[in-house]
Amino acid sequence: MSVSTSPPLIQLQQLGLHYTLGSSRIDVLRDVTVNVAAGQSVAVAGPSGSGKTSLLLLLAGLERPAAGRVLLEGTDLAGLGRDALADLRRDRVGIIFQSFHLLPSLTALDNVALPLQIAGRPQAFEAARQMLQRVGLGERLHHHPSQMSGGEQQRVAIARALVHRPRLLLADEPTGNLDDTTGALVRDLLFELQRESGATLVLVTHDLAFAARCDRVLYLREAQLHEGLHERAPARPAEDRPHGPAQPHPPQAGHALPV
Ligand SMILES: Nc1ncnc2c1ncn2[C@@H]1O[C@H](COP(=O)(O)OP(=O)(O)OP(=O)(O)O)[C@@H](O)[C@H]1O
Ligand SMILES: [Mg+2]
Repeated sequence: MSVSTSPPLIQLQQLGLHYTLGSSRIDVLRDVTVNVAAGQSVAVAGPSGSGKTSLLLLLAGLERPAAGRVLLEGTDLAGLGRDALADLRRDRVGIIFQSFHLLPSLTALDNVALPLQIAGRPQAFEAARQMLQRVGLGERLHHHPSQMSGGEQQRVAIARALVHRPRLLLADEPTGNLDDTTGALVRDLLFELQRESGATLVLVTHDLAFAARCDRVLYLREAQLHEGLHERAPARPAEDRPHGPAQPHPPQAGHALPV
């Protein structure tokens, strides 16, 4: 059997991030080293203000680290300028923001079709319509964000993030505004679409049951990422994983976490 030598989809190497506001400094991440294999789903949990959203912004190249490196499919984001980062997001990353970030002047359909149009993909509106139907918004295609409930806007944001079948899906509390029934539906849909497309999912959530459905859970606290609340056995044998066999023992230093 041949072993693929593809790099992990995500590599965080000695990553550091802090914000300074006046004379105070907030250390958000300190010397964090983590790999995530292609196709893996990883939940990131942690207290409010611990840096979960900041971590997603780093992964999307929307924030620059103070130290260390972020590599996506082996590409160091530090080596990319603004335009190249925008291209990378357009082609390979889907982001569901905590606060939706829908364009208020566009309808639901236009919001979802936009990333496909920018990428010059054919049949943008048909694909957008199908994705909106899948999130239960087939009857809201022509509503603007101000004419939709919070949960409906969140589902538009989910459809927009998934419509171009990204390799990496970053989701920040994607079901935080949904009622139990719609939340359950959207959670199922998210995993279904992730499995279907083979995307790598990084999911920020406070919902431990939701987190537990991921292959792996990381817990962010005091600027460190810890492995756990639980870890499930990989769905595929280790030797089939794109980055090679799993490490037999977790490294002891540098907070390197086994994939
Ligand atoms: N641009 C910024 N300037 C200064 N401080 C910031 C900035 N963005 C975030 N912070 C601070 O960094 C810390 C981490 O913020 P972040 O939004 O990543 O937390 P979070 O874990 O996503 O929280 P929540 O669960 O409430 O969404 C917080 O203390 C926040 O106040
Ligand atoms: Mg947040």
